[in-house]
Amino acid sequence: MRIVSGIQPTGQIHLGNYLGAIKQWIDLQNENECVFFIADLHALTTPYETKLLQKSITEKVIAYLAAGLNPDKAIIFKQSDVKEHTELAWLLNTICPIGELERMTQYKDKSKKYKDNINAGLLTYPVLMSADIMLYKAMAVPTGKDQEQHVELTRTIARKFNQRFGETFPEPKSMMPEYGAKLMSLTDPKKKMSKSDEPKSCIFLFDEPEVITKKIMSAETDSGKDVLYNITKKPGISNLLVIYSLLTKKSIKEIEIEFKDKGYGEFKKSLANVVVNYLEPFRIKKKEFETRDSYVKEILEKGQARARVIAEATMKEVREKMGII
Ligand code: ADP
Ligand code: TRP
Repeated sequence: MRIVSGIQPTGQIHLGNYLGAIKQWIDLQNENECVFFIADLHALTTPYETKLLQKSITEKVIAYLAAGLNPDKAIIFKQSDVKEHTELAWLLNTICPIGELERMTQYKDKSKKYKDNINAGLLTYPVLMSADIMLYKAMAVPTGKDQEQHVELTRTIARKFNQRFGETFPEPKSMMPEYGAKLMSLTDPKKKMSKSDEPKSCIFLFDEPEVITKKIMSAETDSGKDVLYNITKKPGISNLLVIYSLLTKKSIKEIEIEFKDKGYGEFKKSLANVVVNYLEPFRIKKKEFETRDSYVKEILEKGQARARVIAEATMKEVREKMGII
């Protein structure tokens, strides 16, 4: 099965990105034809530093590799290196109803957050994302919960295209983990963990052990002292239980039993250990990759070449079907 997903280069990768998206990618890469990219063009829709963009792209590729992506299997590349993404996005813009874009939750949230910069790109962001997916005729898109609506829109656009110009694209489905599709902030467990929030609300993939421990020990927890999973009454503890469960592969029930009568403090201490140990190999691999100067560049070049073969074939077909030869 062909699978596509991407992550924007800005900000540092956190445990939410890992458990919601990247971990799925790693599980999928052996059995599927995977296309994973750095969505640098999407990142231009919100304020960013031009001088830091390339550096943050390199950092993300290193993060992918450190987390376990294999560039010999998955196609790994930079979105802007394959020009067909923007070409297809324009063509899809001409069939996407504007009302669909205006109702997107992410658009509404971002236009509130960046009041002084509500650019057209922020509105048409999901059309570029649809182009990213449709260019490779992907069947499935592994992401966290917040991107589900955009994948749903992709199905609508694919359907419209097929109706108007003839059967061309599959309607891709969202792939989300049962738990961890929406990891919550450590400081406000009613909000999702997000790289654009304060650093202590996120555990970053490459945080040092002391930093991880400090963040977990001071994570917002609920009144009471029992370590029990209850999203409405105990959102803070429930979020920490999800992290514990996903990183140890123990069920939430097992963990509740293990910490019965032990209180939040002991649970958090144990969780801090779990997270520190889980992420240790990531930190080591990151340092290794950082010493291999041209490695990332080679991966992106190879990825670009592999991606282009598929992208060019799709665009040839699309151009012909739309009558632009
Ligand atoms: P952020 O919202 O932190 O800026 P991105 O928008 O770059 O992160 O998201 C990259 C990927 O990580 C997407 O697939 C997204 O759905 C997933 N993701 C982001 N935040 C979370 C979260 N808190 N829990 C689970 N998955 C998440
Ligand atoms: N919009 C996604 C995010 O912010 C990133 C993204 C861009 C993406 N293009 C994509 C994800 C295509 C999946 C498929 O997380």
